[in-house]
Amino acid sequence: MKAHRIDGKAISDQIKAEAAWEAQKLQRQGIVPCLAVILVGEDPASKVYVNNKKKACEAVGILSRSYVLPADTEEKELLDLVAQLNADEGVHGILVQLPLPPHMDENQVILAIDPKKDVDCFHPWNVGLAQMGQQGFVPCTPAGVMELITRSGYAVEGKRCVVIGRSHNVGKPIAMLLLQANGTVTICHSKTRDLAEICCQADILVSAAGRVHMVTADMVKPGAVVIDVGINRDENGKLCGDVDFDAVCEVAGAVSPVPGGVGLMTVAMLMKNCITAAKLQNGQ
Ligand code: GUN
Repeated sequence: MKAHRIDGKAISDQIKAEAAWEAQKLQRQGIVPCLAVILVGEDPASKVYVNNKKKACEAVGILSRSYVLPADTEEKELLDLVAQLNADEGVHGILVQLPLPPHMDENQVILAIDPKKDVDCFHPWNVGLAQMGQQGFVPCTPAGVMELITRSGYAVEGKRCVVIGRSHNVGKPIAMLLLQANGTVTICHSKTRDLAEICCQADILVSAAGRVHMVTADMVKPGAVVIDVGINRDENGKLCGDVDFDAVCEVAGAVSPVPGGVGLMTVAMLMKNCITAAKLQNGQ
């Protein structure tokens, strides 16, 4: 069997086109949606991600403001900048690119962001609301995973879903969204016993482990939908996910590639959250 290759480019383009339409509507009312992006330090991957976010803003019609701070910036200086952006009515979304340098406390920085402008959906207030299924913002990567599944025509309700990885910002919220969509969800992690056996039961398998070729063909149920959230480098330095793509395609029903899958969706969902932020702050 040759799996359907889930097209993250087409789906993310569709979501960005929807966001662009909403951005135009806001602009006709004199509201220019604006995202402030803060990058601290020189992490090469972070620079690429921030650049992709800026380009997406341009394509969608969202104003982007960039703040690049040196790696040795005092945490207080970053907190002051966040406070200034919180108070700025022209800024609707604030994104602090992670990871921050080790001398900074990421939790304190995220707590400082006004929850109304927290377009990453990282603030505990928004995490709590998301868990209750009651809010405007969606966590970008997890929501992107859901869109990849549902816009490709696969239903979650009643399905056995297995998520590999339990990080606060990715694995856990993915599991929560699958549960909200009435999936039956198992979360696996580094201490899980019999990982392959559990994965083999999944109708929907989502890997957010961050390990090259961790998901092999023998871990996949025939016909399963496999979503690869990993962003890794292989032994040749080439970008790859967690899934042994070619081999898994022989067993699965559908697989999302890396690149060309979830990564594009994260940015598209961020655009959607920026529009939501601009609307919320204008009473819409
Ligand atoms: N670092 C890696 N992914 C993300 C993300 O989605 N948002 C932020 N703020 N930092 C990240």
